[in-house]
Amino acid sequence: MRPEIKLLDEAAINRIAAGEVVERPASAVKELVENALDAGARRITVDYAAGGKVLIRVTDDGCGMTGDDLPLAVARHATSKIDGSDLLNIRSFGFRGEALASLGSVGRLTLTSRAAGAEGASLTVNGGRMGPVRPVGAVQGTVVELRDLFYATPARLKFLRTDRAEAGAIADVLRRLAMAEPLVGFALNEVTEGEAPRSLLRLDPENGDFFDALQRRLTRMLGADFTANALRIDVEREGLRLSGYAALPTYSRGSSVQQFVFVNGRPVMDRLLLGALRVAYLDVLSRDRYPAAVLNLICDPERVDVNVHPAKSEVRFRDPEAARSLIITGLRTALTGAGHRASSTVAGATLAALRPEAQSPDQPRIYQMDRPSGASLSRAFALQAPSGFAEAPAPYEVLPAPQENTFPLGAARAQVHENYIIAQTQTGIVIVDQHAAHERLVYERLKRQRDETGIKAQALLIPEIIELGADDAARLLAIAEGLAALGLTIEPFGGHAIAVRETPAILGNVSARALVQDVLDELADQGDSPSLLAKMDAILSRMACHGSIRSGRQMRAEEMNALLREMEDTPLSGQCNHGRPTYVELKLTDIERLFGRR
Ligand SMILES: Nc1ncnc2c1ncn2[C@@H]1O[C@H](COP(=O)(O)OP(=O)(O)O)[C@@H](O)[C@H]1O
Ligand SMILES: [Mg+2]
Repeated sequence: MRPEIKLLDEAAINRIAAGEVVERPASAVKELVENALDAGARRITVDYAAGGKVLIRVTDDGCGMTGDDLPLAVARHATSKIDGSDLLNIRSFGFRGEALASLGSVGRLTLTSRAAGAEGASLTVNGGRMGPVRPVGAVQGTVVELRDLFYATPARLKFLRTDRAEAGAIADVLRRLAMAEPLVGFALNEVTEGEAPRSLLRLDPENGDFFDALQRRLTRMLGADFTANALRIDVEREGLRLSGYAALPTYSRGSSVQQFVFVNGRPVMDRLLLGALRVAYLDVLSRDRYPAAVLNLICDPERVDVNVHPAKSEVRFRDPEAARSLIITGLRTALTGAGHRASSTVAGATLAALRPEAQSPDQPRIYQMDRPSGASLSRAFALQAPSGFAEAPAPYEVLPAPQENTFPLGAARAQVHENYIIAQTQTGIVIVDQHAAHERLVYERLKRQRDETGIKAQALLIPEIIELGADDAARLLAIAEGLAALGLTIEPFGGHAIAVRETPAILGNVSARALVQDVLDELADQGDSPSLLAKMDAILSRMACHGSIRSGRQMRAEEMNALLREMEDTPLSGQCNHGRPTYVELKLTDIERLFGRR
């Protein structure tokens, strides 16, 4: 029996297409809000019931449609946004002309709209069956109401998650669009029959300069902490522009919840861009911390193809490497420019910890205190030899008050618990973790040396022979050349042994064995690391730990002040190699508040 080939009817075609465009209620909300934005709306309201399964209603004050427009709007492949001649020049959210047709085929869709100079009109499409256009009273703009989503495709209904989960996805979609469009006002309400609507989000339109508007919008959405700790990013290279806000490393998060990327204002979930964001912070954050950033990549629409997926959440760059490298270098330059500035939340968290009534265990901890494993730290401390600063048996002393002192990190007054330097600034005090700070400085010195002259190695009088497991020996020898560039020269020494001939001179008389062990730990932690370059940076960062002043060592006044001055001059010195703060600053006003003087 030969099967007969038939042309599918319009309703079936739409239902099939709907499967791609409308995956869940949140995708319907995304399409409808994008339509409102394309229509030039200044205020957009989204109401939903039961996670969007029972009702989604999007109201806008945009240009509206006439009665004649309505049947076309719900027809498949009908759009006012492109003429089809140039798919490489798309400047609107929509262009495929299939969202409304899809929604009308899988749910009960009613459009009510009024354009300037026209009468209001309304049209209903029920599971693909279109009703007549009816005149109605309406204000300018459009209301799209979608009831019983997927009632016409029960299979899809089964895949929906709980109302709560679907509601969460709706809020997420709206939040991303609200970040992309700070000049537009957004509201999100949950409606339940017989109850007053519950307002979940209310954002008034911001005005003025786009950057300022965005900053105010982000303050409302992500909190004042985010903007207080975010660097403004605005870099351009070869017609590609990156703009937005990226937070200091000391304001990092335990997951990617505060990472938002946009391409030409379109929210995207793009692995290339998110990966570049991660790489940009690789040097200043430990692997389990995530940078917070809101970034928009702006380019000529011709350089990016948005017609990759019906939901348009993926894009394809004509030159992906250019996009990637702009993000990495742009963010790194901004972070470096921030110098020793550490997150303001550090001081806030410190004060919260000091104030007994404010102590609450479930308060979000914004900067991280997760240290490298205790064992590896104590091994590093135990094995490292003093270097950089002379070992001085200075007596504990409180230093005299500074005369005129305008240094940002102040003048050292005391060292306490053999690890914390207390310095006095013009407006408060600074507490420095000497080990963390010095580790960062040594790392930056090492990197500087590597880039400028190559890292100077110091030959061991007698090469140190280290017996290793077969895997470990092979793994080390495989990167021997890279290690030599870092000042650590190793050679095979028969069997599974290696000989260490040179160590980096900056580190002083370190234990070669401890260095090698740390390199191995780093390699094990990395698994299959992104690139050799990143791998070597991480190894360098670990090695820096060996050259730094251990906690527990007393420091002389000149040493402490020298450390403070070097911190001021060294980019990225506000956080250690793991993203923890190297110092906290308490303003006198904060201290006075602690004592109830204010
Ligand atoms: N909220 C709205 N305000 C004004 N016009 C709208 C609105 N929503 C849809 N339209 C019109 O309906 C057309 C079809 O919408 P849609 O199916 O989403 O396709 P697309 O957005 O890809 O053009 C749009 O091109 C637009 O002209
Ligand atoms: Mg659309």
